[in-house]
Amino acid sequence: MTQTSSRYTKTAVVLHWLIAIFVIAMFILGWFMADLPKDAPKQTGFDLLNLGIYTWPTSEEISPRAFYFNLHKSLGISIFALILIRILWRVTHKPPALLTTYKAAERKLATAAHHLLYLLMVAVPLSGLIMAIYGKYGVKWFGLDFIAGLDNKAVREIFEPTHELVGIVFLVVITIHVLGALKHKFIDKDDTLKRMSLH
Ligand code: HEM
Repeated sequence: MTQTSSRYTKTAVVLHWLIAIFVIAMFILGWFMADLPKDAPKQTGFDLLNLGIYTWPTSEEISPRAFYFNLHKSLGISIFALILIRILWRVTHKPPALLTTYKAAERKLATAAHHLLYLLMVAVPLSGLIMAIYGKYGVKWFGLDFIAGLDNKAVREIFEPTHELVGIVFLVVITIHVLGALKHKFIDKDDTLKRMSLH
């Protein structure tokens, strides 16, 4: 508990934006891969999200569905590690107090959203990880064997809708959080967003 200044430290700012970018990318990837057919032919290169920006080469032939699911799992584990570091950092460092200009209701909403975001930052990757562990294919981290699949359909079928549901709740809370940040920037014209930037 060392921080007393009115802005977030560099560590907090870097972790916030790195995780924010990763989380948004995971939502895009999650929705993209869910619609992929199970019977598409195998390939050795993937034009990421069909955007024509980067083609990811693979060492062996793999179906698009398996490629994108593996990517989602690999990124998911990486971001989960970053989130755990962030939480460790957060419990050992006090964040700056909210701006004094906030109304009582705004203060409550912002604090509740921040706490919920921490909870969901754990619940979403954790439910996904459990689902993958109880699935057939297990978890690889960018091609390296990480956790073997237990192939337990009953447990998997509990965590699949859980992962989707907590994901949707996460998206709703993120939307409220972003709308709040934009309101402070463009309506209240206060320093909220500046506190979460590097200069
Ligand atoms: C991309 C749009 C986003 C914007 C514009 C944004 C903006 C901000 C700002 C300005 C603050 C500081 C509020 C204050 O003055 O106290 C903040 C805090 C926070 N943000 Fe975001 N954020 C975004 C995305 C996210 C995402 C995706 C997550 C979750 C993964 C997240 C999690 C948090 C948390 C947990 C805090 C509270 C930090 C603390 O005090 O412990 N944000 N955000």
